[in-house]
Amino acid sequence: MKVTPFTLERFFSQTEFNVRYHLAASAIQAWSLREFLSLANDPDLQFSLFATRLGYTEPEGIPELRREISRLYSTPIDPNHVLVTIGAIEANYLLLSTLLEPGDRFIVQTPYYQQLSQVGIDLGATALLWHYSEDKGFDIQEFEALLKQKPALVMLNTPHNPTGFVFSPNEMRHIADLCLERGIFLLSDEVYRELGETLLPAMRDYSSQAVSIGSMSKSYGLAGLRVGWMVGPPEIIARCAAKRDYTSLCSPSIGQQLALTALRHRTKIWDRNRQLRLRNITLLEKTFKEAPTLRWQKPEAGVVAWVGYSPKIPSEQLGWELHRRGVLVAPGIFFGEEGHFRLGFGGNSCELEAGLAILVDYFK
Ligand SMILES: Cc1ncc(COP(=O)(O)O)c(C=O)c1O
Repeated sequence: MKVTPFTLERFFSQTEFNVRYHLAASAIQAWSLREFLSLANDPDLQFSLFATRLGYTEPEGIPELRREISRLYSTPIDPNHVLVTIGAIEANYLLLSTLLEPGDRFIVQTPYYQQLSQVGIDLGATALLWHYSEDKGFDIQEFEALLKQKPALVMLNTPHNPTGFVFSPNEMRHIADLCLERGIFLLSDEVYRELGETLLPAMRDYSSQAVSIGSMSKSYGLAGLRVGWMVGPPEIIARCAAKRDYTSLCSPSIGQQLALTALRHRTKIWDRNRQLRLRNITLLEKTFKEAPTLRWQKPEAGVVAWVGYSPKIPSEQLGWELHRRGVLVAPGIFFGEEGHFRLGFGGNSCELEAGLAILVDYFK
């Protein structure tokens, strides 16, 4: 199979570990192991973690973790319908490469997190792009029009990277019903679901045929655990699990144990992360008032903002120029659109403030 480079990741490999102010990340600030263990405030925890066997685990994920993940949904989920993966990125990859065939059409939002469109395109499928607009967001009428082209699959991302757009419960239900009536596979990447003001709706709660994809990376600040998951119909889970036997076999045992701990203490983690998000959004609001040449819309959830600038220079060049000044942003072209960049605001507030000052100065 052809593999087109993941442009954002290639750019990050050259920039993100040698920059002073990283304002391009898409996750809330990562926890240190020490902070994380002290938050759990459980004297037996260290002891039980030390007892973790560093071997393979059940390929579908350790049973306690699958059970805990199933509790994140409001409809009852059989833990056997949960597949634990190496981050959401593996879940997306397994699903797209299993369910799409060459010649198929699939709907995907744009701007996009490249994986969501690229895997299907590289397989020989055609992407039907559902465009974001600043006034309407992702308009359902446009979605309905795309359905006329008879897609085999819809790849949704809500809350959306990079715009922070969130579908309402009514829109989710409507999309779910339309796909169900037509027998279209419906995948929903929901890695920011826990990073709104409340826990946001999941597609799995609107359709027993939909697949919801989640992760410990973005909303929890635990990307280093490399734990994600998919929740969906048993036949899809089984097909993806069979494919995974050829790639990673299972997620790391220690990552799964820590993910289990995090989910058991999830409300404390969400509180810390939501507070940081709100504090940083206030900084952004102040900054954008000082930078009238930049356009943004306050993201409804998640920790990324899609920022428009007057496109005098290509966004990749902008990314490199800002990098030389010590600030990293993610060029819009890597999400399929020029004249924009993605700003990640989930990090340390003091660093964000300092990085934003350089950014504002650049656009003066
Ligand atoms: C929308 C989306 N899905 C999936 C991923 C992959 O995340 P994970 O660390 O869970 O593999 C990312 C990472 O940026 C993302 O933005």
